[in-house]
Amino acid sequence: MIKTQLARFNRLDLIAAPTALEKLERLSVWAGRDIYIKRDDTTTLAMGGNKVRKLEYLAADALAQGADTLITAGAIQSNHVRQTAALAARLGLGCVALLENPIGTDDVNYLHNGNRLLLDLFDAKVELVENLDNADELLQALAARLQSSGKKPYLVPIGGSSAVGALGYVRAGLELAEQIKQTGLDFAAVVLASGSAGTHSGLALALAEVLPNLPVVGVTVSRTDEAQRPKVQGLAERTAELLGVPLPGAFKVELWDEYFAPRYGEPNAGTLSAIKLMASHEGILLDPVYTGKAMSGLLDGIGRQRFEDGPLIFLHTGGAPALFAYPGVFSGQDD
Ligand SMILES: Cc1ncc(COP(=O)(O)O)c(C=O)c1O
Repeated sequence: MIKTQLARFNRLDLIAAPTALEKLERLSVWAGRDIYIKRDDTTTLAMGGNKVRKLEYLAADALAQGADTLITAGAIQSNHVRQTAALAARLGLGCVALLENPIGTDDVNYLHNGNRLLLDLFDAKVELVENLDNADELLQALAARLQSSGKKPYLVPIGGSSAVGALGYVRAGLELAEQIKQTGLDFAAVVLASGSAGTHSGLALALAEVLPNLPVVGVTVSRTDEAQRPKVQGLAERTAELLGVPLPGAFKVELWDEYFAPRYGEPNAGTLSAIKLMASHEGILLDPVYTGKAMSGLLDGIGRQRFEDGPLIFLHTGGAPALFAYPGVFSGQDD
């Protein structure tokens, strides 16, 4: 039912083929458990990542509305802003981004390298703001300013996490379910980073319909379970409503919030060792803000027997450009 409903929405075809689902051979041996990876870090736009999937729907909506400028907001090192700016460049649209410094650092690499460097290449216009606590208001005010100078802005919410954006992960969930069926394996869980929640909500919504027994575990990157739960639940409900389907009975929000300390944008020891382990065993890059924390949760979850028996799937949502904003953190890091 979800698949039929999803087909009614406009989508830009940015990701031509399904991203790979592959086994992490050496990491599986290290962990004593089979771990598979869904490679959404390899989506085709500007160093990849999960936002491309959301932007397939968001940008299609923007074009349908006749917009000429994408506006959005995020951290200085936001992967979402980088992918939005890249797509704006590709579509010949303007891009204006409100950026905050969530860790209050004056490190030159955080302020200028990594994702931030790329924004200049894509010709995005950047406005620094004190914080994004009232992001919607700030974005509305920016939209009004642009309109008064004759522009037609389209507001892409933080992280692309509106119901329209989450459709990208509903689609990804259906894609992953097909791949899972082809393996013939009985997976114990899918693990992913849960931030602005569109990835988690969309994926869990689709999987609840097509693979209702497969748990989806969101490792939080910025919030406690209590704070994150209504975001994931609420967005899943709004996405189901947009699709015109009921929330599947099997839909469940599962969150692990033990791995994001000390706060958003600051890696901890577990984050760094997960990144190092993945790089040194698989040649695959995780990031210090999202996927390093999610992988650290997955590995700790194996150690603490938090999963049922069976192989696991890690959804790699990208983010490696941010590594260059955190130089030095890996010195002295061994497996
Ligand atoms: C690399 C990476 N992984 C995961 C996420 C979290 O996805 P979501 O915001 O949809 O929860 C983000 C969001 O910015 C991201 O950049």
